[in-house]
Amino acid sequence: NLNILKDRFDRQHTYLRISLTERCNLRCTYCMPTEGVQLSPKSHLMTYEEIYSIAKTFVQHGVTKIRLTGGEPLIRKDIPVILEKLATLPVELSITSNAVIIDKFIDILKTHRVKKINVSLDSLDKEKFKHITRRQEFQKVYNNILLLVKEGFKVKVNAVLIKDFNDNEIIDFIKLTKDLPISMRFIEFMPFDGNKWDMSKMVSYADVMNQVNTAFTQDQIERLKDAPNDTAKNYKIKDYQGSFAIISSVTNPFCDSCNRLRLTANGQLKNCLFSSTESDLLTTLRAGKSIEPIIQKAVLAKQKMRGGMNTLKKLQEPKFHTQNRNMTTIGG
Ligand code: GTP
Ligand code: 5AD
Ligand code: SF4
Repeated sequence: NLNILKDRFDRQHTYLRISLTERCNLRCTYCMPTEGVQLSPKSHLMTYEEIYSIAKTFVQHGVTKIRLTGGEPLIRKDIPVILEKLATLPVELSITSNAVIIDKFIDILKTHRVKKINVSLDSLDKEKFKHITRRQEFQKVYNNILLLVKEGFKVKVNAVLIKDFNDNEIIDFIKLTKDLPISMRFIEFMPFDGNKWDMSKMVSYADVMNQVNTAFTQDQIERLKDAPNDTAKNYKIKDYQGSFAIISSVTNPFCDSCNRLRLTANGQLKNCLFSSTESDLLTTLRAGKSIEPIIQKAVLAKQKMRGGMNTLKKLQEPKFHTQNRNMTTIGG
């Protein structure tokens, strides 16, 4: 049973993203449909023991990095126990959060060696922030980003770009990195169930670089070396403390170096962000059976690129989006 995490394209999966909850304290339009989402009954969600048990199996088979996602992972009541349990495993633990309440968790994150935190922030304008998240929490999120940096966490800030909405803020976001040692990441808008995606709303990697090339001189723009299996193309402005990057899943996918698997809050394994087929680990675990054969089968079924949407034409076919989940219950 060695190498059950290696797929047909020789990709070794060493990174597990675990969604802890389907709930969120924000309502971002690109992530959640207006009417909200159908939540799983509590009995269908993994308990902290089940999360630990499944995570342990993955670690035994070579996972070295776990990222906790949601919904918003920090609104899960038993987050302290989940962190405590997962911290006993030999993995790098990280979290993606909207940061609205993260100031209450600084000590507990430090205690459990969570060092890398990714935070979503799509606008520096309070009104736009409210428009996209349907909640007025801009100041909390912004202050918490500053707090995380001050407390020594490695912070990446994620902004999903939407044409004619926040693409006029790209350079302001980059200027934040002058004095703040963060990685500012611009994300190409991706299609999921219920998020009203349309290719014309997407701001591409090329669009971002056009703005950058206009705002800065060539000798100010530095292309950095990307981390192994990075989702992002990383850059920095000379003499700035932080850096910026583009996550180009639409125009320049990075599937060749994909090392990620996803576990949803209701215990389903997804072999790709865009794959609509799921493997039910939780039911098998609850039946007292081994989850390894199911994991292996799921990994071997993984498609080469974007869950089979290997062309831009396919990416634009609505049937692929509606077969998949909405982003809120995937966790990014
Ligand atoms: P690191 O663990 O720091 O590398 O972060 P990350 O970029 O993997 O994760 P994060 O949760 O910050 O997500 C940022 C954006 O990248 C979101 O829009 C995710 O949906 C997207 N993303 C994360 N993993 C993948 C992936 O495997 N494939 C694709 N296409 N997009 C991904
Ligand atoms: N396209 C691209 N990124 C998205 N995210 C949520 N929905 C989308 C989408 N439709 C991002 C969030 C968060 C990360 C986990 O996923 O901004 O930072
Ligand atoms: Fe991996 Fe799928 Fe993301 Fe490509 S789209 S990088 S295969 S998770």
